[in-house]
Amino acid sequence: MINLIGDAERVLKLNWRNGFTIPTSKLYPFQWNWDSGFISIGHSYFQLDYAIQELESLFSSQWENGMVPHIVFHSENEKTYFPNYDFWESNVNAGAPQRPKSSGITQPAVHGFVLENLLEKFPDNEKLIAFVKAIFPKVVKYHRFLYTYRDPEREGLMFIFHPWESGRDNSPLWDASLDRIVLNEEDLPKYERRDTSLAPSDERPTSYQYDRYVYLLQLGKKYNYDGEGIFEESPFLIQDTLMNVALIKSNQSLINIGKRFGMDVGELEEWQQQSMSRFKEKLWDSSLQTFAAYDLRGGHLVPHKEIGGLAALYAEIPTDEQAEQLNNYLQSLHTRGYYICPSFDVDSPLFDSKRYWRGPVWPQMNWMIYYGLKKYGFEDTARIVKSDLIELATKLGYYEYFESQKSLVENLSAGYGGSDFSWTAACTLDLIKEDS
Ligand code: DGY
Repeated sequence: MINLIGDAERVLKLNWRNGFTIPTSKLYPFQWNWDSGFISIGHSYFQLDYAIQELESLFSSQWENGMVPHIVFHSENEKTYFPNYDFWESNVNAGAPQRPKSSGITQPAVHGFVLENLLEKFPDNEKLIAFVKAIFPKVVKYHRFLYTYRDPEREGLMFIFHPWESGRDNSPLWDASLDRIVLNEEDLPKYERRDTSLAPSDERPTSYQYDRYVYLLQLGKKYNYDGEGIFEESPFLIQDTLMNVALIKSNQSLINIGKRFGMDVGELEEWQQQSMSRFKEKLWDSSLQTFAAYDLRGGHLVPHKEIGGLAALYAEIPTDEQAEQLNNYLQSLHTRGYYICPSFDVDSPLFDSKRYWRGPVWPQMNWMIYYGLKKYGFEDTARIVKSDLIELATKLGYYEYFESQKSLVENLSAGYGGSDFSWTAACTLDLIKEDS
């Protein structure tokens, strides 16, 4: 049996780039926003300094409007990735830093809860406390960006205008919105994908989807990535579950941190109160018995069961009764021979247990769901979520994501997507260590 703790340390060190950590070599050779949050937690077990630098480095790319971009291109010489900084052209926005270069969209706001997690691990560490106090206003500024630019009708729920912002790029959740984009050849600039020469193409998004990712990128660029035209024009306009779960969880963490250090948390409390109640009232789909994303362009809930709805447990959004329903669902998947939890509804014809966000198991989602289940007292299910991830990592290694059907894993010797993957190492490590 491999030494999972030693291997996690190896992976995190391997991917460390003198100040930040790449998710995996070649496929993702820069710093990714939400990856960094989980990675920071992983580093803290070996080098608290790395954990701190990881977040400092991410926030060095914060825009004047407060946005923290989804990719930070610390190196301009790395050519294996598309779309690179020259395609994003984030300098169309005068408030984007000249260096480091960055993308023009964001990702789930995990940083508040990551800071609280680090403080729980090292409550009296002076260096960490000083760091948290220094970065706190930047994280609040990031949340203020979301409330200002991504919630124009002041509902308390953020919209995303690109599937990459959800972190769940090719989830079937987005299919109907992407189908609204009817493209002629002249609508797109010429581009060349790099991902499919670095990972098997049946584990990645299709070219139909990539064309639409590029279209939405161009649409963002046209409006300097923060203009009102995005809300007015984007065919893809979603109040995503996970995006709002991360924000709500992080709001609460920032409130807790702020109270500990005597900072003003009034604005955070107002945001939190509004977001929490709007999420509960707008995003619960009683026929599916889960939380669902809301398609602002179509004016309806996105009618699918998927992992973002389950993640609501982590921010303690569900009532006890709703939590019970989510827990029963997870238990039923376990009984039916799935590693829990597949990223998409296994009973849907759109389920694909191999293709990225259309069905595989994702470690950072297991991590959130694990802690969510524990908060509600579902110890038994939490134990399964943890042991499933540990079993997958032990059998297959620290891959980006994993096959979710147990009968298929028996014949596999590897996971899917990138290998030696940083957040897989970090999240698995944290769950192993969490009991001790
Ligand atoms: C990718 O390149 O696949 C990323 O998920 C986009 O950020």
